[in-house]
Amino acid sequence: MQSLQEKASEWSGVSTVEAFGIDEGNINLCQKLGTEAFLNLSKNFYNRVYEDDEEWFRSIFANSEKQKAIENQYEFLVQRMGGPTLYSQRRGHPALIARHRPFPMTHQAAQRWLHHMEQALHTTPDFDHHSKTTLINFFRHTAYFLVAGVAHKDQNLHLLTCHNKDHPPINHHPCKNF
Ligand code: HEM
Repeated sequence: MQSLQEKASEWSGVSTVEAFGIDEGNINLCQKLGTEAFLNLSKNFYNRVYEDDEEWFRSIFANSEKQKAIENQYEFLVQRMGGPTLYSQRRGHPALIARHRPFPMTHQAAQRWLHHMEQALHTTPDFDHHSKTTLINFFRHTAYFLVAGVAHKDQNLHLLTCHNKDHPPINHHPCKNF
């Protein structure tokens, strides 16, 4: 059976090594770019999401307040890119698969999410070419990892309800954010 990471790589076209390029180099991305860069990126991204012409996608965020969503994304990114652990101090373990379970995590939703994130990265002046490429690989792989992870959890729940004890254990993601 394919692991969640293998599925994420197949669906995103990004290998695990490429996805975790964010963890390479002597200086982490937060030190290199500064926390402000991630605040600007999160604002830019969510401005696009909340103004999306595609109602089906915009409606996924209908129960979330934009400012809160920006804060969550900003703090997560700073933490994940090697900066202070702002997110966990306020929200606890990221547990991103579990936190995304209420939402329709389809391939189409991942594509639209990535469309906005890539546009946001290209129009936020703080990011150099190499940082953009590295982050895009991380986002692509993670978006499909979440799609696979939510489907897997739902499937396991179904198997548990059917009293099937042979369901495989969930595969862990090396960055411990899931
Ligand atoms: C695949 C498509 C995705 C969809 C449809 C989606 C949707 C959502 C929605 C509706 C929220 C709630 C907004 C809020 O209250 O903060 C959310 C939260 C969040 N998302 Fe996503 N997301 C996706 C991918 C991603 C990816 C790729 C990442 C990280 C790289 C990510 C990181 C987060 C974080 C950190 C939060 C805040 C969680 C919390 O503290 O409750 N999401 N997402």
